[in-house]
Amino acid sequence: MPRAMRAVRLHELGGPDKLVVEEVEQPTPGPGEILVRVRFAAFNRRDVFITQGLYPGIVFPASLGSDGSGTVSALGPGVNGPPVGSEVLMNSMLDWGDDPRVWQKPGNILGMPAPGTFAEYIVVPAANVHPLPRGLTLEQAAALPLGGLTAYRAVFTRGECTAADVVLIPGVGGGVQTFVLQFVKAAGAKAIVTSSSDEKLARAKALGADVGINYKTDENWSRAVRAQSDGGPSLVVDAVGGDAFARALDVARPGARIVTYGGTIPQSNIRLFSVFWKQLDIRGSSMGTPAEFAAMLELVAKKGIVPAVDAVFPLDEVVTAAQRVLAGEQFGKVVLAINS
Ligand SMILES: NC(=O)c1ccc[n+]([C@@H]2O[C@H](COP(=O)([O-])OP(=O)(O)OC[C@H]3O[C@@H](n4cnc5c(N)ncnc54)[C@H](OP(=O)(O)O)[C@@H]3O)[C@@H](O)[C@H]2O)c1
Repeated sequence: MPRAMRAVRLHELGGPDKLVVEEVEQPTPGPGEILVRVRFAAFNRRDVFITQGLYPGIVFPASLGSDGSGTVSALGPGVNGPPVGSEVLMNSMLDWGDDPRVWQKPGNILGMPAPGTFAEYIVVPAANVHPLPRGLTLEQAAALPLGGLTAYRAVFTRGECTAADVVLIPGVGGGVQTFVLQFVKAAGAKAIVTSSSDEKLARAKALGADVGINYKTDENWSRAVRAQSDGGPSLVVDAVGGDAFARALDVARPGARIVTYGGTIPQSNIRLFSVFWKQLDIRGSSMGTPAEFAAMLELVAKKGIVPAVDAVFPLDEVVTAAQRVLAGEQFGKVVLAINS
């Protein structure tokens, strides 16, 4: 008899309220796979976008959750480690492919189409299972994978960030952007962040931000950015899109690199003059390669970076947790306690 487990699933669109916790069959690891008992999982905006139908290729029932940590429960045939019972986290990027410049199967990650981490157990390819970076708790480690990977590629591979840079980070309260801030500071660059809330700006300063600007109360926030950056930022790392992206192009210094990895506001009315006259370099970025994931874990361990965990909700409060993300109330990552 297959064993049952509890998992969060989505059977229809309609926002976070449509998420339900139900009993499903516990998966079994096949050749090359590991069964992980999930201890903590974490939200990404993607999970909320899926409930709203704002993500391509949704299949029902959808089993959500791309981030998670836990303990190894069983090894599939041909897998020699890590040992059963050891603490691990999962890289949600399943099949990047051979070309480090671009993924071959966009969006092929844990949590739709593959079963996600908002479940008591998950089966993951052995190559995607990693020991925790030194010093992190399981709760903190669950917050790291997708955001840390996306931020690492955006800041270092695509952004080529160095200590000489002045970096603009719009909407710093976002789960990925808090990692962007921490990695930019690890590179030794100057970080100018914007946020909707003074409280979040104070938390960003505690994480190392040099300048914080409230984009809600300061209508001329881009002017304030220019004043703080000696002629404009040399690097922008954005996922907000919309007007924030357009104004970032206007304020960037000539020759700046502009990295975009998301469009929370999907359309942006940009002034092309800013792009060609200042010879800006706009670069898209998404998730990252297995090598970037390993390098990200190494950086986190070496620099003692601790993910910004906003709040921890029990599995049964998954709807409340998702609503917090939808409302943009969080600073950093919203975590679910699954088997704690
Ligand atoms: N391409 C990829 O591989 C990839 C990977 C991960 C995420 N993404 C995308 O990146 C985006 C962020 O993801 P996430 O999980 O970090 O989301 P999140 O935690 O929900 O963060 C969203 C943040 O965006 C900021 N924001 C919203 N409207 C804004 C505005 N008008 N001006 C400035 N900031 C604004 C807010 O910052 P404040 O609270 O500070 O105001 C908010 O906290 C999403 O669009 C997601 O789909 C893409």
